[in-house]
Amino acid sequence: MLKKVLTIAGSDCSGGAGIQADLKTITAHKMYGMAAITALTAQNTMGVSMIEQSSPAMVEAQLDSIFADIAPDAIKIGMVSQIATIRVIKEKLVSYQAKNIVVDPVMVATSGADLINEEAVSVLSQELFSIASLITPNLFEAQKLSGIAIRDVADMKTAAKMIFDRHGCPVLIKGGHLEGKATDVLCHQGGIDTFEATRIDNDNTHGTGCTLSSAIACNLAKGMALEEAVAKGKEYLSGAIAANLNLGLGRGPLNHMYALGIED
Ligand SMILES: Nc1ncnc2c1ncn2[C@@H]1O[C@H](COP(=O)(O)OP(=O)(O)OP(=O)(O)O)[C@@H](O)[C@H]1O
Ligand SMILES: [Mg+2]
Repeated sequence: MLKKVLTIAGSDCSGGAGIQADLKTITAHKMYGMAAITALTAQNTMGVSMIEQSSPAMVEAQLDSIFADIAPDAIKIGMVSQIATIRVIKEKLVSYQAKNIVVDPVMVATSGADLINEEAVSVLSQELFSIASLITPNLFEAQKLSGIAIRDVADMKTAAKMIFDRHGCPVLIKGGHLEGKATDVLCHQGGIDTFEATRIDNDNTHGTGCTLSSAIACNLAKGMALEEAVAKGKEYLSGAIAANLNLGLGRGPLNHMYALGIED
């Protein structure tokens, strides 16, 4: 039967990241995608020009509409920066007994800029990490969550263990911002696993984080164990980067459709 995957995230009107990247990823995995929108953004490959948050009541109503009708097999949570919205999402996912939740704790942009304030970071980690099957911080987010500086894969392992111990949820630290191989580190009940991929020489990496977390959610919906879901998610992501789409004037998007045989 067709698996159903929900993304709770912000909209990227240019189609490279956020809800749009998630829905394309879900479609490329041949699954049925649903989307509860937490914010509208005006952005393109060169940057974000405006953000308008959905009201917490609107997010609540979207979640009620979805869960009253079509139960998702997995959920990806992306950008949520308002405390009231974080609380609504927690309350709804608990009351609907949602499973296979992947939280991409979007806090720090690739540029290094903070996207949410300290209080929201702490509410996000208290409320959403406890119900997550996996959280996927990037290097900067992992530094914030662990409180240690991360310079190499050994530091990633130390930080991953610290975050796992503190929050009790599996954590995948993404190494996209290090040099050399694109190595991600998973710390979970079963120990620490390292996932290495060749670093593809392509500057068009807008939306890699969103794409990876939604691909992992799809794999969990299929019933894969966490390690396999991460390994296969990374494989899909590498393929989407390697497909070499070159759109826009800045850091362009991936080709999510390569897995369906659609090329530039
Ligand atoms: N050039 C590349 N080649 C292969 N894999 C890459 C490359 N750049 C990033 N990755 C992989 O992409 C994933 C996302 O990593 P990254 O650290 O960039 O996350 P992020 O900062 O959250 O992304 P985003 O900017 O989309 O929010 C990781 O699995 C990382 O290893
Ligand atoms: Mg990110």
